[in-house]
Amino acid sequence: MGGHGWGKVDDNNSINAVRRALDLGINFFDTADVYGFGHSEEILGRALGDKRHDVVIATKFGVSWDSNGNIGRNSQASYVISALENSLKRLKIECIPLYQIHWPDPSTPISETMSALKKCQDQGKIKHIGVSNFSLQEINVAKQWGNIMSTQVPYSLIDRNIETNLAHHCTKNSIHMLTYGSLAKGLFSGKFSEDTIFKQDDIRSKDPSFKGVQFKKNLCLVKELRKIGLKYNKSSAQVALRWVLDVPGVLAAITGIKTQAQIEENVGALQWSLSCEDHEILSKLTGSHV
Ligand SMILES: NC(=O)c1ccc[n+]([C@@H]2O[C@H](COP(=O)([O-])OP(=O)(O)OC[C@H]3O[C@@H](n4cnc5c(N)ncnc54)[C@H](OP(=O)(O)O)[C@@H]3O)[C@@H](O)[C@H]2O)c1
Repeated sequence: MGGHGWGKVDDNNSINAVRRALDLGINFFDTADVYGFGHSEEILGRALGDKRHDVVIATKFGVSWDSNGNIGRNSQASYVISALENSLKRLKIECIPLYQIHWPDPSTPISETMSALKKCQDQGKIKHIGVSNFSLQEINVAKQWGNIMSTQVPYSLIDRNIETNLAHHCTKNSIHMLTYGSLAKGLFSGKFSEDTIFKQDDIRSKDPSFKGVQFKKNLCLVKELRKIGLKYNKSSAQVALRWVLDVPGVLAAITGIKTQAQIEENVGALQWSLSCEDHEILSKLTGSHV
C-alpha cells in the first residue's frame, strides 16, 4: 500500500481498503517510513482520518533512502530523531503507538539506537518499542537497553525458520510476534497458477516460491488448504492465516492488502479455530509445528 514492488497499486483503492478494515473492526495497522519513501505512511494517515487515535499504528524506521531511491540501514541516534519527526508528521499523530527498528544496523551499536528511542519515549512521542527481522541474539542484546514489546517475523506454512528458537524465546519472554509473509505474498489465496506471469516491477517475479519445483509444491499445498477450508466454509487464504494465528505467541498476522475484497477475505481468518487433526495434517505436510 502506497509503496512499490507489488505492481500497480491504486491509492484510492488502498484508502477504501483501510476504511473497510476499520468497519470490520481491524484496529492494528502496520507501515514503515521507507514504504513508498513516506507515501505509505501518508496514505495510511489520510485513510484513517479522525480514527487514527482509536487504532494502534505501527511504523518502522532504520532503512534510510536518498533522492535516487538508494536505500541503506541507518539506526543512528540522529536518524532515529529525524525519522520519528517525519513519521509523526506524515501520519498526523503526536505519539506512535508502536515504533519498530525495521532491520538490524550492523554499523550502529544497539545501545545508541535504544537510548535514542527511550528518550523519545520519555518525551511521549513513542508508546512502545518494537523490533523487526532481529535474530534471537540481537533481541537479547537490545533487551538490555529497554523493553521490547514486539518483533516482526516472517512466518508462514512455508517459512518456518522462527520455530528453531526465536518463537519459543518470544513466547517465554512475552515479546509479541507480529508475522508477515503469512499469505506467502498472496500465493495462499490460490489465485496463481503455473501460467501466471508477474511484471518486472513485482517482487514476485524474482521470488523462488513462484518458480519451478518449489512453485509446483506450493500449488499442491494450496490444494490441501482448499480441501481443509471446505470443512469450515473457509478459503485457502483464511486457513493459511488461521494456522499462523493459532501458534502461541503470535499476536497478529499482518497481511498486505490492495482492495476491500482482500481485507474482507483476510478478516475471515479471525474468530474460529482449526481442529487439532487439521493442524496435524498441515504440520505433516510442511514441517513441525512449534
Ligand atoms: N518487517 C518487515 O521487514 C516486513 C517485510 C515484509 C512485509 N512486512 C509487512 O507485512 C505487510 C504484508 O507484506 P507481506 O510480504 O506479508 O505480503 P502478504 O500479506 O504475504 O501478501 C500481500 C499481497 O498478497 C495479495 N493478497 C492479499 N490478500 C489477498 C487475498 N485475500 N486474496 C488474494 N490476494 C491477496 C495482494 O497482492 P496482489 O493483489 O498483487 O496479489 C497483497 O499485496 C507489509 O505491508 C508490511 O506491513 C514487513
